Amino acid sequence: MKDTPIPYDIVQKVVKKSNLPSIGKASIREVKRLINEIEEASGKKFIRMEMGIPGLPSVQIGLDAQKEALDNGVSAIYPDIDGIPSLKYEMARFCKNFMDIDVQPASCIPTVGSMQAGFATFLTFQHLHKERDTTLFIDPGFPVQKQQHRILGAKFETFDVYDFRGEKLKDKLESYLSKGNIHSIIYSNPNNPSWICFTEKELKIIGDLANKYDVIVIEDLAYFGMDFRKDISTPGKPPYQVTAAKYTDNYVLFISSSKAFSYAGERLGVMVISEKLFKGQYPNLKQYFGTDNLGHAMVYGAVYALSSGTSHSAQYAMAAILKACNDGDYNLVEGMVEYRDKANAMKKMFTDNGFKIVYDKDEDQPLSDGFYFTISYPGFSGEELLAELLYYGISAISLAITGSQRLEGLRACVSLIQKEEFPELERRLKIFAENHPLQ
Ligand SMILES: Cc1ncc(COP(=O)(O)O)c(C=O)c1O
Repeated sequence: MKDTPIPYDIVQKVVKKSNLPSIGKASIREVKRLINEIEEASGKKFIRMEMGIPGLPSVQIGLDAQKEALDNGVSAIYPDIDGIPSLKYEMARFCKNFMDIDVQPASCIPTVGSMQAGFATFLTFQHLHKERDTTLFIDPGFPVQKQQHRILGAKFETFDVYDFRGEKLKDKLESYLSKGNIHSIIYSNPNNPSWICFTEKELKIIGDLANKYDVIVIEDLAYFGMDFRKDISTPGKPPYQVTAAKYTDNYVLFISSSKAFSYAGERLGVMVISEKLFKGQYPNLKQYFGTDNLGHAMVYGAVYALSSGTSHSAQYAMAAILKACNDGDYNLVEGMVEYRDKANAMKKMFTDNGFKIVYDKDEDQPLSDGFYFTISYPGFSGEELLAELLYYGISAISLAITGSQRLEGLRACVSLIQKEEFPELERRLKIFAENHPLQ
């Protein structure tokens, strides 16, 4: 039994009591509960890196607009299902200003977070074609989106992109698409959990293949603008947030207010559908949605049935924030660089103490510092490492639950860590390294 920052026997007792068959396979919420219990039993605070919660206050422009909307009485009134006109208008402008793509306000649909955008999309796409019934995940990915598929009884296939970066992505994708059962491809960019960011070359491969096989690209931009290697914050000027939408008209984008504007609590995202798809006709939809038009099915079928739109006042908040970004009055990148700086410092602490960064490159470029990073320690599986770090008061999640094949890896989230905790993190990592010397 080693001397560890959190007493050994307390951790053991709480883990045993939790009845979790394997900590490495526990969901994010289960890990969160376990850490809460260890903190309570030991009286010691963890360095908490398990949950991807925004660690910054909400953008004030949004709060002001939302309060004003509430004072004006919007809480008493159902919002239109397809969203308030100012949000739709500003989102279309935002797409032009920060991605250089042309979208119509009509096809910008606010949802209850990107989470609901996903659910509505998966349930609609499941019925697009009689003969094509499967989503392809470019993993690692956000575990809940697979849970959504399971709940819907929707089929999916997946592969870990780690070994298929750059030119290799083409053959790998084609090996799935050529089978003829895939209707859409989903990934997040920047990626949760690995923080890889696809390069222009890779996005072009995805877009070109979407055209060739007539599949839809579902691009989850929950971390919009957070590839901090490029400052995309000037409206209408390059560099832009990279997107496969530059290379195909078959796309749906999810743009979330949660991380970019620290608005997670109000549950607001926007689904942006390309004009071609929004107007597209799919005969198979008719029996489920009473229409064969995809845009109509999505709004008046899926989103209507799920929640009849989303929070009226929060839509005013996001409209105001987007307007400020579009007008150059709010700099969305400056609002988030704290994550970059924290990741930079924390990654150094881990690597100085023998840890490795698992996903470390975008083709030949070192990864951006941002909201998440991935770690491993020689000789440990991810599951073992997660369990061992509990004794050191450090929490993360296992990459095993994200569709990654890098089973040695963990995902660490920087958002909740305060700079004042850095010395303690460093101290704990040093003890860990001393207790687990490398050859
Ligand atoms: C990749 C990804 N997609 C979607 C979401 C959920 O976003 P929202 O809060 O808008 O529902 C998250 C949140 O962590 C995420 O990481």
